[in-house]
Amino acid sequence: MRQPGDIGDVQQMLSQQGYVCGRALATALFLSLRLGRPLFLEGEAGTGKTEIAKAIAAALGRRLIRLQCYEGLDASTAVYEWNFAAQMIALRAAEAGGRADNDALTQHLFTEQFLIERPLLQAMRPQPGGAPVLLIDEMDRTDAPFEAFLLEALSDFQVTIPELGTIKAPEPPIVILTSNRTREVHDALKRRCLYAWVDYPDFEREAEILSARAPELSRTLSREVVAFVQALRTEDLFKKPGVAETIDWAKCLLALDAVTLSPQVVADTLGALLKYQDDIAKMQGSEAARILDQARAALPPA
Ligand SMILES: Nc1ncnc2c1ncn2[C@@H]1O[C@H](COP(=O)(O)OP(=O)(O)OP(=O)(O)O)[C@@H](O)[C@H]1O
Ligand SMILES: [Mg+2]
Repeated sequence: MRQPGDIGDVQQMLSQQGYVCGRALATALFLSLRLGRPLFLEGEAGTGKTEIAKAIAAALGRRLIRLQCYEGLDASTAVYEWNFAAQMIALRAAEAGGRADNDALTQHLFTEQFLIERPLLQAMRPQPGGAPVLLIDEMDRTDAPFEAFLLEALSDFQVTIPELGTIKAPEPPIVILTSNRTREVHDALKRRCLYAWVDYPDFEREAEILSARAPELSRTLSREVVAFVQALRTEDLFKKPGVAETIDWAKCLLALDAVTLSPQVVADTLGALLKYQDDIAKMQGSEAARILDQARAALPPA
């Protein structure tokens, strides 16, 4: 698959995958591909950080390898583990067969046959379509020691397995890291990466995303939906709706055969947009109607 030649090319390749990418983000991605630097994406929830990794992998015809971060994730789970159960079976079989040459057996038990490759090691392996896209998702959920380990792994793209030796990527993977900024990721890691902040899209772009992701939606309803969500984001909410919520909501409205927004329809379907009871409670009564009026007033001319 061809490499993008310029920023417009990146936008076009992503758009063929249904991903609408603004100029700033496309520039960051283009540079990251060109310079072979990891791309660090921070932003609100549901704004398309994870999705862009999937889209660029599909556009380039590369394998996507995802390392989902969580609290307590450690190097061994991220890189490799020995298949203990299979080792035990092999050991028992060797004992039963009377083959008790200990050294040979130990050597055999620590070969690739018994190795379980986790995402970071998989990403160092050659892949049919070229270097894979390695998505390190939700970095902010891990802790400092894991971050330090990642820093090292990302600097030389190699891992050492004591029993097997060092495995080095023939070609560095395309690395995309994401964070929801529940905590700050260490400067040392950020310094190694190109950085982009993924914000909520503006009206035009969100309408474009909606027509890519929910093409059945009528233009009128789509404009109303986007205007409403944009207005809702200006309210003081505990958790503002992301693009994912806009798409979900549009699908709910389609399922209900809604033709246009009304305060009633909005109130009935708020659960698709807001996921905290306090936020939903705030929208009770005349609030939804007020925001709807505000949204309609702000609608740009068709
Ligand atoms: N620019 C975009 N173009 C097309 N679809 C988008 C775009 N942004 C978001 N989406 C849609 O929104 C959904 C959520 O996006 P995604 O999971 O990438 O968000 P995220 O930023 O990773 O959120 P979180 O921080 O919660 O993980 C995707 O499934 C995708 O359909
Ligand atoms: Mg995500």
